[in-house]
Parts: sequence; structure tokens; C-alpha cells
Amino acid sequence: MSSADALYVTTPIYYVNDVPHIGHAYTTLACDTMARFARLDGRRVRFLTGTDEHGQKVEQAAAAKGLTPKLFTDQVSERFRTLADRMALTNDDFIRTTEDRHKRGVQALWRELARRDQIYLGSYAGWYSVRDEAFYAESELIDGRAPTGAPVEWVEEPSYFFRLSAWQEPLLRLYEERPDFILPATRRNEVVSFVRGGLQDLSVSRTSFRWGVSVPDDPDHIVYVWLDALTNYMTAVGYPDVESELFRTFWPADLHVIGKDILRFHAVYWPAFLLAAGLEPPRRIYAHGWWTVEGQKISKSLGNVIDPYDLMETYGLDQTRYFLLREVPFGNDGDFSRAAMINRMNHDLANDYGNLVQRVLSMIQRNCGGQVPAPGELSAEDRGLLEASGALLERVRAEMAVQALSRALELIFEVIGAANRYVDAQAPWALRKSDPGRMATVLYALAETIRRLALLTQAFVPDGSARILDQLAVPEEARTLTSFAGEGAGLVPGTPLPAPSGVFPRFVEASPSMPIETVAPRK
Ligand code: MSP
Repeated sequence: MSSADALYVTTPIYYVNDVPHIGHAYTTLACDTMARFARLDGRRVRFLTGTDEHGQKVEQAAAAKGLTPKLFTDQVSERFRTLADRMALTNDDFIRTTEDRHKRGVQALWRELARRDQIYLGSYAGWYSVRDEAFYAESELIDGRAPTGAPVEWVEEPSYFFRLSAWQEPLLRLYEERPDFILPATRRNEVVSFVRGGLQDLSVSRTSFRWGVSVPDDPDHIVYVWLDALTNYMTAVGYPDVESELFRTFWPADLHVIGKDILRFHAVYWPAFLLAAGLEPPRRIYAHGWWTVEGQKISKSLGNVIDPYDLMETYGLDQTRYFLLREVPFGNDGDFSRAAMINRMNHDLANDYGNLVQRVLSMIQRNCGGQVPAPGELSAEDRGLLEASGALLERVRAEMAVQALSRALELIFEVIGAANRYVDAQAPWALRKSDPGRMATVLYALAETIRRLALLTQAFVPDGSARILDQLAVPEEARTLTSFAGEGAGLVPGTPLPAPSGVFPRFVEASPSMPIETVAPRK
């Protein structure tokens, strides 16, 4: 049983048949934000990402490039790792399914399933989609293709089967007893009705290609790539060594974040494999939606694949993070457009958040001798603002507990809006001569509110938040959420502050005469 204060969060492991795109970056950024938030909140965190390197799809992609699968996977996996570095992700580990630690774990899980009579030898005759790496029943096909639109081929070969049909009732019980096992709720309903419809035993080995983990004691068979891939979540924390410190601290995983297309593998097959092997299933599967670009499906043939490097280069890392996490409620589909991206970064980050910080810090610099001002007696308005910012931690924490990332940002930005209105209403610049004591109180309430906001936004926009905390002279050790409120928390009047500088710049078009709406999407 994993420790109560631990958080083990994972991304899917990415197929290396392709270069990373915005869809991959999205899942990883979301998990990174959850991991950062939990760390700031004092929890022990393990954040895992990696690459899925076996299977027919990867074997074919390597052949198309004239490379051996090993060389090919080494190269492409490296691109995912470099992206993780460039995006300053805080993953604690990066697993590759071609590593020995992983292969050993897959074989151990197989042996355990076989020992418990959960696997038997038979032969498979049916449809297979290499693109989805999935088997489909005749009844699922639509116009001769998989329901995902992927081409299918007829496969007939000897195969081991997993007794998935025996797990229908236990799975339904699991969904029943743990209503938040699959989130959002609409996805849960989909899975429940799929499982209620009955489960067939699942083919879990292939003999028609070689690139994968061999079945123990029967090396003609290669372990089905999904059984291989899913096991990464356990091998990365030490499986089969279930007594290891890592495994005991972090298994079962708290959260597997995935895209909606791979829900069945995670919410049906994976818990069934685990239950069948006498292991605990993960605590939650969260399926997010899919991104389109300027209204169109992302596809290589349409040439609209957005390279995450380009996004970061053009708009900035914080801005990319903010857009992706704020633009759509986590779980829904979203559309990336250049206009929406620029609108978000200019409106929310530059005008609302950046401007608040800039106004307040420059007034303090100019009018309070560059030191945290000392507050006098608080008015109802001052208390109102401080109470609103003080209540944010609990409210944001509650949203983060259900992965409602955009909602968490919405709450934070409501307080940013309230703080901007408070500045306008209190007009501290006008108090400079008439009532400097009152001006100091107003600026104190604002600076303290900004401190709290920046503590909370660290998980979402880490660079900008760190710069705000630098400008408020908040020491490194006081940047966790345990320093949010309570004894000794809060800005100390008289603390010298460095000269302020802008935090979230506006995006300025190369040709300012051209309105954003008429700029053609980038090729
Ligand atoms: N290798 C499997 C996962 C194995 S996990 C044990 C896989 N890999 S993938 O590279 O094809 O996809 C990885 C993730 O990227 C999936 O969660 C998928 O939903 C996500 N996305 C791919 N395109 C996407 C969008 N256009 N938008 C959002 N996410 C998308 O599946």
C-alpha cells in the first residue's frame, strides 16, 4: 500500500514511431503541473514519463527509415528526452521499454499470470490494427476500418490468451466501489457500458514479428505490446521487487493521465491484468481530450503538426503551459489557434497578472523606499482582498485533487481580477500625498496578495512565478505551500525589494498593422 502523502503520477509512454507533437507535450505538461503542485504542497512525488518502443508499428517505422529497431528507438527516444529537458519537466524518471529493468518486469508479470492460470495457449484469427496496436471484433469495424479510422488486417496465428472474460464482474465491482477510479465521469460511463457488454479473452502474444519482449519459456511468442507497455508503470518503481522501498512507497499509482483514445487499455485491461496477478490496481485513470489545430485534426498529411519546440520558441514556455492548461477544462477537447494563444497570453498573463505585479511593485519601489510597506489598520476592502487570496489555497487544492487544472487557474485569475479592481478603487497613487499611511496599507495588502498568487501559480507558470517571488524577496525555503499562511508566513514590512522588472511580456506581432485574426496560420 503506497504512503498516504505520496503521489505517483504517470504519463502514457510515447510511441517512438513519430516525433513529439503538441498532443504529447500536453499530457506531460499537465502531469508536470500536478507533480509540481503536490511537491510544493509537501507531498512525496514520483512523476514518470517515457517511451514505448516495442511492437509492429515501431518495427515498421524503423524499417521505413532503413534502421535497425534498436538504433531507431535510441534516436527517437532521445528526442522525447530532450523535449522533457527543454520543457524543464520535473519527471523523476524516464523509462524506456527496451531497458532491461523493464523487460525483466514484463516477464515476471507474465510468469505470475501464467502461474495463476490466467493465460492459456490458443490461436487468434481476427482483425488487428498496427496503427492502434489493437485487436478488433468484426462487429466493431466501420466500413472495413477500426472505429478509430485506422486500417485493419486479418491475422491468424498461434497466440496466448489472457482470461479477460473472467474479470468482467470484478471490474464492474471496482468501478462501482470507486466512482472516481475513472475521471471525468463521462469516460467512466463509457467504460462501464463497454464492460457490461461482455468481455472476450484477450490475445496477449504475437508470433508474426520479433521486436518485443519474448514470452518466458516460449520465445517464438512476443508479448503483446500493450501488456508490455502498461507494465512500465510498475517496472519504473521496481517491480518485480515488490518489497523495494520505491514500490512500497509508490504502488499503487495514484494517477495515470492518458488521452481518451487509450482509455480501454488503461481502465479495462490494465486493472484486469493487475487483479489477475494479485496486485493492486491504480487509484485513478484520468482521460483528457484531444487537441485540434485551427479546427482540424492534427495529422502529418495535413501538415499541421505543431512542434512543441516552435511553440516554446515563439510564445515562451510559461505562455505555452498557461494556454494549454487554461484554454479548455481538463478532460474536454480543445482547439489550438494562433489567435487564441496570443489572446490568452496577452490578456490573462500580460494584462491581468503581469500588469498587476508591475503596477504594484513599481509603486512600492517609487513610494515606499523599495521596501515592503508596513500596513496600518485594515479596512473592509483590504480584509476582503486578503480573505479572497487567503482562501485560494484550499480552493485550488480541492480542484487539483480532481485534476481540474483549468478551474484551478480560473479561481486564481478571479483573485487577480479582484486585485486589479481593488487597485483601481483604492487608487494608491492618489493617496501618496493625502494619506501615505493608507497608501502603505493598500500596497501591503496587494503585495501580500501577489505573494500568495505567485506561490500558487508556480506549478503552472514556474518561470514567471519565480521571478515574481524574487521581486518580493521571498526566500527559496518560503516558496512552498506550507508557507502560504499561518505563523511566520507573509511578507515582512521593511524587507528591501529589488528593482521590479516586467514578468509576462505581451506578444507583439512582427507586423503590428496586421490584426491577429488576419494572420495566416503558420505552416
Ligand atoms: N504508446 C501508447 C501509450 C502506452 S501507455 C502504457 C500511445 N502512445 S502515443 O504516442 O500514440 O500517444 C500518447 C498520448 O498522446 C496518448 O495519451 C494520446 O491520447 C496523446 N495524444 C496524441 N495526439 C493527441 C492530440 N492531438 N491531443 C491530445 N493528446 C493526444 O498511445
